[in-house]
Amino acid sequence: MLNDMTKTSNTAIIVAAGSGSRLASEIPKQYLKLKGVEILAYSVRSFLAHPEIDEVIIVTSANYLEHASNQYPECKVVVGGETRQDSVFNGLQACSPHTHIVLVHDAARPLIPSRVIDLCLSSLEKHDGVAPALKPADSMIQLEDSGFRNLQRDNLRMIQTPQCFHIGILRTAHASGKIDTDEMGLVKQSNPQASLGFIEGAPETLKVTKQIDLEIIEKYLDAADN
Ligand code: C5P
Repeated sequence: MLNDMTKTSNTAIIVAAGSGSRLASEIPKQYLKLKGVEILAYSVRSFLAHPEIDEVIIVTSANYLEHASNQYPECKVVVGGETRQDSVFNGLQACSPHTHIVLVHDAARPLIPSRVIDLCLSSLEKHDGVAPALKPADSMIQLEDSGFRNLQRDNLRMIQTPQCFHIGILRTAHASGKIDTDEMGLVKQSNPQASLGFIEGAPETLKVTKQIDLEIIEKYLDAADN
């Protein structure tokens, strides 16, 4: 624990304040259960178990504040905002004064291998920010008024979480008034000179969006059990 005032710490912020409307469920997707365990619990456990993570902050909706506080007593739990970016901002406000590095993770991505956390942290020795990325396997197109255009697949990446930063650069990006769907985009907009890197993501870190995603993740969990 951080009794040494000179010590810096690494904080995971898990954003879990979305309503999960795309899954047509009353319960937000991060609070659904997979093999009897809440989806949110999987990433919470991975970060708590990682030797280089000192603090885990859960950002949730006001409706789930009491539930999450009771369920995850080892974590700080705070209320999120209207958008994902607002929720990340609230998480940043709750970070320990010792926080040096923040790892922002979607609760809707339950499977996060410790290899990915290791690589993100080591890559921050040479970058301001880093995120896991995957090459698309399929051909990619861009729809246009007149039809579509094929994109060079080799130059495209799908970006996952955790998106990880030296905390100052992410705070500055949030203060810039810019808006983006993720932290890499926000930091790039606010500071085009920032050194942003990517590491190889993991296919199992998929985001639960559709019913089939739950079944795929269950298969990964079954494979890990055997
Ligand atoms: O909606 P989407 O799947 O892109 O959300 C990604 C993550 O951001 C989810 O874990 C969701 O709970 C979180 N989120 C949030 N606050 C919002 C909207 C989304 O914490 N207002």
